[in-house]
Amino acid sequence: MPDLTEPAPWWKTAVVYQIYPRSFADADGDGIGDLEGVRGRLDHLAWLGVDAIWLSPFYPSPMHDFGYDVADFCDVDPLFGTLEGFDRIVAEADERGIRVIVDLVPNHTSHEHPWFVASRSSRDDPKRDWYVWRDGGGPDEPPNNWVGAFIDGGRAWTWDEQTGQWYLHQFLPQQPDLNWANPEVREAMHGVMRFWLDRGVAGFRIDVVHCIGRDQSFPDDEPPWVGIPHCAINEHPSSHAYIREMRRMVEGYDGDRVLIGETALPGTHWVAPYYGEGDELHLAFNFAATHAPWDAERWRHRIVRLQEELDPLGAWPTWVLSNHDVPRHRTRYGGAEARARAAAVALLTQRGTPFLYAGEELGLEDAVVPPERVVDPGGRDGCRAPIPWEPTPGHGWGPEPWLPFPPDAAARSAEAQRGDPTSVLHLYRRLLAARKASPALRLGTLELLDVPDGLVAWRRRHGDDVRTTVLNQSEQTVAVALAGTVEVASDGEGEGQPFEGQVGPDTAVLLRP
Ligand code: NOJ
Repeated sequence: MPDLTEPAPWWKTAVVYQIYPRSFADADGDGIGDLEGVRGRLDHLAWLGVDAIWLSPFYPSPMHDFGYDVADFCDVDPLFGTLEGFDRIVAEADERGIRVIVDLVPNHTSHEHPWFVASRSSRDDPKRDWYVWRDGGGPDEPPNNWVGAFIDGGRAWTWDEQTGQWYLHQFLPQQPDLNWANPEVREAMHGVMRFWLDRGVAGFRIDVVHCIGRDQSFPDDEPPWVGIPHCAINEHPSSHAYIREMRRMVEGYDGDRVLIGETALPGTHWVAPYYGEGDELHLAFNFAATHAPWDAERWRHRIVRLQEELDPLGAWPTWVLSNHDVPRHRTRYGGAEARARAAAVALLTQRGTPFLYAGEELGLEDAVVPPERVVDPGGRDGCRAPIPWEPTPGHGWGPEPWLPFPPDAAARSAEAQRGDPTSVLHLYRRLLAARKASPALRLGTLELLDVPDGLVAWRRRHGDDVRTTVLNQSEQTVAVALAGTVEVASDGEGEGQPFEGQVGPDTAVLLRP
């Protein structure tokens, strides 16, 4: 039974909204989103009711991985704005009760980062050991069989002609891996964290944090992992020690600053250890739901697995359906608006901190990107399409946005949907308000209910406060013996009325007693 008197840290009860700055809002009309664009839409986010925003990288970068290749961790790329502009966002978000989380990319830098430029300049450079350099068997034989991401089965090592060694990169060759075994690197990265904490950020979403430690004997990957990107399975115990150091550092700050790890690992079982004994990550992304199809058995299984793995640790779950790396969930579930709506009810009534990806509140699908407009080496352009703000042809963007708009952009634009109380946008707003108003939804226990096939149902409880969610992922209307008042319905039907005991296909309802 949760302690009702204990105030929970903000990040347990928050709904976090991810902004991919390139795709969010374009204030200067160059077709690429920017920080002023973010600032200009803070009112939209306050109206929607989110508690925090997480900004994907806006740091100086040659953009080989669209900002996840950072050339300076402590500045803003001119494409996106200025540090002063960032400070204004923090201040103006704060006025609206919204916290700002930034992305920390500790595993690698850009190959243009001055640290790497120095490191590759000579074997004797003081920064040589800040990255991972190995001899291998000479220019034709890399040190081991590790494979890097986004390079089509290609190796995670690049030969450097000038100094005659290989350097490690678990992602693109333009993203050399830092050597966290070197204490100077850890200290430098803590300095980066302090830089942003001192500017008032509420915490960090930490890119592939499970990757930062690695076996110093650099063994070959074994079957069945040979040939898949090493970052997908790399989880050396030393990462945990480095995370504990970060945790101790942020705990020196007031205000419950949060560490959220992008633990992109094969399952919940792999993710759980990153909470440590309450001394590592506060929150770890559990991406299992982004891989689960629209199927009641699989969703039920996801909820059970979270309970089995996290509850014994006292670890607080996270829920996420979409982000800048995977096709949007509406697209994955086949494109129907009904499913996107039902998924919203399911996501926002789970136990754990939900993460929304900008545009899901508009029910967006991925853009169809013709081959000549493909820009991402990882095939992720579709989910990064610009957010349509207005129903006008330009949708509030400069004349040539960096990617095409998603389907039905005019009808799904924020402005069009704000004027329509039956829209997906209003559904998200009602769900966020319902969550905010209910201790059960924010902090309560979760009990799975016994319901007919095709349905998943769960009851949340905190003291006297109770809420029940019923999700129908089948193609038929299903009767269910549950009573209550419909607080939110994914199709908007019957809200405020007694529940009639039937749930339509691809529909979800939130009930209160
Ligand atoms: C995970 C990020 O989410 C992804 O966008 C990026 O490409 C890789 N990490 C490398 O930084």
